[in-house]
Amino acid sequence: MIYDFNKSKQRNIEVLTGIRPTGDLTIANYLGAVAPIIKIQSQGINPVVFVADLHAITDREPANVRQYIYEVVADYIALGVDPQKAIIYLQSDIAGEVTTLATFLARHISVAELLRVPTLKDKLKKNARPETANTLLLLYPVLMAADILINKAKKVPVGEDQLAHIEVTRLLARRFNKKYGEIFPIPQALQIKSLRILSLKGEGKMSKTNPGGAIFLTDSMATVAKKIKAAETAFEGVINKRLKSHILIAKELAKNRAERNEIDDIIKAHKSGKPVMGKFKQLLIQIVQNFLKDFQEKRAEITKNPSYIHSILEKGAKVARENANQTLDEVKNALKFI
Ligand code: TRP
Repeated sequence: MIYDFNKSKQRNIEVLTGIRPTGDLTIANYLGAVAPIIKIQSQGINPVVFVADLHAITDREPANVRQYIYEVVADYIALGVDPQKAIIYLQSDIAGEVTTLATFLARHISVAELLRVPTLKDKLKKNARPETANTLLLLYPVLMAADILINKAKKVPVGEDQLAHIEVTRLLARRFNKKYGEIFPIPQALQIKSLRILSLKGEGKMSKTNPGGAIFLTDSMATVAKKIKAAETAFEGVINKRLKSHILIAKELAKNRAERNEIDDIIKAHKSGKPVMGKFKQLLIQIVQNFLKDFQEKRAEITKNPSYIHSILEKGAKVARENANQTLDEVKNALKFI
């Protein structure tokens, strides 16, 4: 459904999601985070997608975050997020509004509760220390709650790692409503099932931290072929985790039913002990290359005009600002802080 950017009273926001502006997306990022939004969009819902640049400065230098904003928007549009259907905005374009709401919300959760949020506990166990981690890490879920509540979003598609933050959002919304009146709808997490896309090389999931085993959206056709050719598969008749992951990639990126049938036929032959892994890899290479070629062409088209992304973000900021101000007015009224 084409979105009417000119209507002006508060929009009913069904689905909202935030994306971290980090560069170098992989096909695992596409399948895990972008494809679900495109699916929602194809169901006639106009999703709100915003670039969470204020969240990104938790552990990055602000100057380094700027460069990725345009990159990630171009990537998302080239992957199929339709700027006529989705509202795309930059979080810092409503920085004043969203951080003001975060300030009001933060009064309703204790320091002890924030320290118990599983994502933070995990981080403090693994790669951050309370002595050196900055306070944005502690406030991360409160800012995320402000993103969601300022839009009065009903559903938030997130991966498993973000579920705890949605719980904090729900808690804050309930506490605020109880004390000051029913302002916020209680948002629901729309849990995206996590796909097991493994690294093509070595252990673990496909991720940019292990670039040799990851297929990047920017990889050349030759690089893709090389990476897939070097990937391990499985002995005849055996289905292992790695092969399952390859099959998943092939099926999810396949263009049509004919290609999916071809995959099924090859895997059937493999299960019956035939040596068909070479053929499977050829097909996988072809599928991934076609997907990337398509993406790269669209992306080149999009970035040809440098003001295009800018104009999309401007259009989105206008809607986001109107909505945010409306919510903030209601909140300030309820708080008698005007
Ligand atoms: N924390 C999310 C992530 O790391 C990004 C994010 C920020 C977000 N604010 C949000 C996601 C609000 C959904 C809703 O992926």
